Amino acid sequence: MTGTGSLAIEAVRKRRFLAPFNGDSLSPPSIWLMRQAGRYLPEYRATRGEAGSFLNLCYNPALAAEVTLQPIRRYGFDAAILFADILIVPDALGQPVSFEAGEGPRLAPITDVAGLATLKADQTGEKYGLIWETVARLRQDLPDETALIGFCGAPWTVATYMVGGRGSPDQAAARAWAYRDPEGFQRLIDILVDVSVDYLDGQVKAGADVLQIFDSWAGSLPDNELARWVIDPTRAMVEKLKALHPGVPIIGFPRGAGASTAEFVTATGVDGVSCDTAMPLCAMRELGELDVVVQGNLDPLLLVAGGDALDQRIDEILAAMKGRRHIFNLGHGIVPETPPENVARLVERVRKGSA
Ligand code: CP3
Repeated sequence: MTGTGSLAIEAVRKRRFLAPFNGDSLSPPSIWLMRQAGRYLPEYRATRGEAGSFLNLCYNPALAAEVTLQPIRRYGFDAAILFADILIVPDALGQPVSFEAGEGPRLAPITDVAGLATLKADQTGEKYGLIWETVARLRQDLPDETALIGFCGAPWTVATYMVGGRGSPDQAAARAWAYRDPEGFQRLIDILVDVSVDYLDGQVKAGADVLQIFDSWAGSLPDNELARWVIDPTRAMVEKLKALHPGVPIIGFPRGAGASTAEFVTATGVDGVSCDTAMPLCAMRELGELDVVVQGNLDPLLLVAGGDALDQRIDEILAAMKGRRHIFNLGHGIVPETPPENVARLVERVRKGSA
């Protein structure tokens, strides 16, 4: 073993975030928050202003690394999450994405199999390369003890934006295509499985320690459709990634999957499952009996409100998950109205292990 090799192994050992994936329950649990880098932080708003637009920020490795580090400096979270977006994948495929101020993402919709011909699965490298460079910078700049989470959107959730051309309350356009022409829609999902695995493979090679797959719209599907469009593609991704990087933990976030969550865990082979706000604590505790690390699930709006109600719910979550392999997190992303001091209060209370 070379000197540098053993130093690198020593650094990874220091990342307590990884302990639950190796079988240890931590007390207090580790903590990070979805959207921990974002508009609630004044320093984020300043850097985003410098970048000019959200996508310019994502594709500028120096600035993207800077905003990833901002919440780590403030709060010392146990993990940093790469600053990017799930819609980098369609953008890199040649379906350009834009973010209009206050309106969310816009894409020219692809609504049938003929539209797939416009996608260039062999040309993602140029844009992926910029994101991978951010990851490499981060691994240099992060404290040794901070884990680095790479991520992508799950094929189903990314497809809902590619087909709908924007966010929607019911993901009707993608659901309609999937019912009308399942074989054609499967081709889109298969493309997304392949290019997403390639994207995550590059993130691991550049230094990501853990991966999270965001399936934010899993909850709009009936159970048989969820099996086909959420569980099967995620299992395919997990299998491919495990073949490439057997030691890298993968967290799934099948938001809204409810009573199908246990099936999601056992069928996909994920190492961790992130639970949304509506998941009852008793159900979260039960999931912990499966061979899986459970993450979640404080309501992001309680983090806006703060005060005693926040403290009480933190304690309830800690008590319910005591002795389990748990990672403290929100049930969905931080909202821009969140007072930064409430985040400090949350981190302090979780670390005090008051339950
Ligand atoms: O800190 C982090 O969590 C890392 C960065 C990150 C972003 N988006 C930054 C972002 C991550 C992991 C995401 C994931 C993401 N993006 C998801 C899955 C998680 C979820 O929230 O359900 C989804 C569905 C998207 C797509 C997306 N990106 C939408 C619908 C929007 C517009 C809505 C909004 O919040 O503005 C975005 C924009 C976006 N992605 C912002 C950030 C910080 C805000 C953009 C800005 O600065 O103007």
